[in-house]
Amino acid sequence: MNTLTKYLTGLGLGAALTLTAGTAMAEGACGTFTNADGVVEHLACSTAPIDFTNKGSLQNGAKMFMNYCAGCHSAKYVRHSRIAKDLEIPPELVEKYLMVTTDQIGDHINAEIDPEIQASWFGAAPPDLSLESRLRGDDWVYTYLLSFYEDPSRPWGANNLVLANAAMPHVLHNLQEDLSKEEFETEVGDLVNFMAWMAEPVRHDRQVIGFFVIIFLLVLLIPVYLLNKEFWKDIK
Ligand code: HEC
Repeated sequence: MNTLTKYLTGLGLGAALTLTAGTAMAEGACGTFTNADGVVEHLACSTAPIDFTNKGSLQNGAKMFMNYCAGCHSAKYVRHSRIAKDLEIPPELVEKYLMVTTDQIGDHINAEIDPEIQASWFGAAPPDLSLESRLRGDDWVYTYLLSFYEDPSRPWGANNLVLANAAMPHVLHNLQEDLSKEEFETEVGDLVNFMAWMAEPVRHDRQVIGFFVIIFLLVLLIPVYLLNKEFWKDIK
């Protein structure tokens, strides 16, 4: 293999790695807990149903986020106007139903209650969730939201298998009671789909473009390889 071919192969491999690194999901266990017999068990991650082409799911996720999460958590890198545009929701509807913490559509998603004050209530400030699904991984967030259980020893009567002794109350408790297991998982799936979109709105486009870039580079390799062979054929 001469230098140019090596360079091109490296370029292709580099691009392929960059493409897959961005899409890699956190694998393995999402948490450890001690079961009733005192044995330490690992909690496998559930796979979050991420699909940015499903606008209905993203829209429902936005509704869930604004109704159940924005009271405590901010998403300070996301503007309401961007939600309207990308999720194809008419701005009037965003203003009417989704802007629970502000009246300016150009504003970012702020928490309804100051996180500093909340820290003194809960013992931990609710973190900003704009980039949460990139920080922890979609599957972690999805598994976390599905893993609350009753625990009378905790201040809010609930604990979490993924984040032991979480300071966050089980805010989806009533929803979970009202729905079947599958329905609840769909709702939470939509919410996490929205959170993944918040963390990287261009993710889907990046993957599609990345795929075509790799195909382009592979096709380009053929003429470049032949040309290279032609240039070097007389020089030994
Ligand atoms: C009543 C206030 C409150 C509401 C409402 C709330 N949270 Fe939280 N949340 C918290 C607090 C407090 C923490 C910090 C937990 C800790 O560190 O123990 C937290 C932590 C989290 C974490 C873990 C962050 C990390 O990386 O450690 C995630 C994810 C999360 N919340 C998602 C949500 C989602 C999604 C919703 C909406 C369904 C929501 N929260 C609603 C208070 C709230």
